[in-house]
Amino acid sequence: MLNKRSIEDIAVQGKKVLVRVDFNVPQNENGEITDDRRIREALRTINYLVQNNARVILMSHLGRPKGKFNDKYSLKPIAERLSALLNKDVVLAEDVIGERVAQKVEALKDGDVLLLENVRFYEQEEKNDPEFAKKIAELGDLYVNDAFGTAHRAHASTAGLADYLPSAIGYLIKKELDIMGKAITTPERPFVAILGGAKVSDKIGVIENLLDKVDTLLIGGGMAFTFYKAMGYEIGKSILEADKVELAAEILKKAEAKGVKLLLPVDMVVAAEFKNDTEFNTVDADKMPNDRLGLDIGEKTMAIYSEIIKNAKTVVWNGPMGVFEMPNFAKGTFALADAMSQCSGSTIVGGGDSAAAVEQLGFADKITHISTGGGASLEFLEGKVLPGIAVINEK
Ligand code: 3PG
Repeated sequence: MLNKRSIEDIAVQGKKVLVRVDFNVPQNENGEITDDRRIREALRTINYLVQNNARVILMSHLGRPKGKFNDKYSLKPIAERLSALLNKDVVLAEDVIGERVAQKVEALKDGDVLLLENVRFYEQEEKNDPEFAKKIAELGDLYVNDAFGTAHRAHASTAGLADYLPSAIGYLIKKELDIMGKAITTPERPFVAILGGAKVSDKIGVIENLLDKVDTLLIGGGMAFTFYKAMGYEIGKSILEADKVELAAEILKKAEAKGVKLLLPVDMVVAAEFKNDTEFNTVDADKMPNDRLGLDIGEKTMAIYSEIIKNAKTVVWNGPMGVFEMPNFAKGTFALADAMSQCSGSTIVGGGDSAAAVEQLGFADKITHISTGGGASLEFLEGKVLPGIAVINEK
């Protein structure tokens, strides 16, 4: 287990603390924030620093502006939302480095909060350029990383800064590591993992790592068809990764050898076309018509999976069961979100669509932990070391 220095292990009083947060939140076409969970999850660390009289300098990316200033990706709406949530003025710097930023930092008093502009307005950020990291480091005395959602990226603000300043993790990273770490190292059993999404290739690392740990693996989403193909089933026009069929067969064999119950959907909702407004019906998984494609799990599967989830002591879920963005094919994903909310064990949802399903149904407070990381939580479940955490000083 990692033994990283946390925010409570460093003296922050009167110090300029550079804090990397992940404020990469979804926005609508007018730039309005549609889900501020990542901002809310960072509040504990920010409030702690404010209350302990630190001078807080926040850094984040938003979107992928490709190293250029672009108003569309400005952190202005984020600064406004943060200010409302903190009930406190948050000053937005017009830049990340340079004289104007340095002046704003100098003007900070104990307990003040400054937000730097989008760190990805500089191409040096994603290159983890040491000179760029050094220039940012010159603005502060300490570095705190609390951006779990970006901890799988070795960028200047997520990793490089630790070369120049004493470092610690914030409360959010600590919470993510504690809860997900416990689930995969010392889970209460039965331990069930649910993996969905379109492609086996996106989930191979997670499947391989979890096969050594779980009692049951429930598979759904488009990747089920690659497994069916490996089993010799007709899959019609469903999504297939032809080059992963052999791998799927190996995974099935491995699961059997390890005594892990690997379940695939027993029925499927099928349609003639990949769109919401089309006719659809449910068929048994081994009786798929050759002119149809599967878009969601069927009701029998929902019942089987839900029962297993409700009786589990630990559940980890990543990836939707069907084409969740189309209402007609979101039922399977919603059914599992409902089952998760009724499970009395520890329930963990990796970011992305599965997290959105839980939130949309209003079940968020019935889930033990919804990770703020999409890619980051996936890499964590793969057993990978996240660079943004690896660089932080040990206790
Ligand atoms: C995310 O949303 O997964 C993180 O903020 C990382 O964003 P990125 O995939 O653009 O690096």
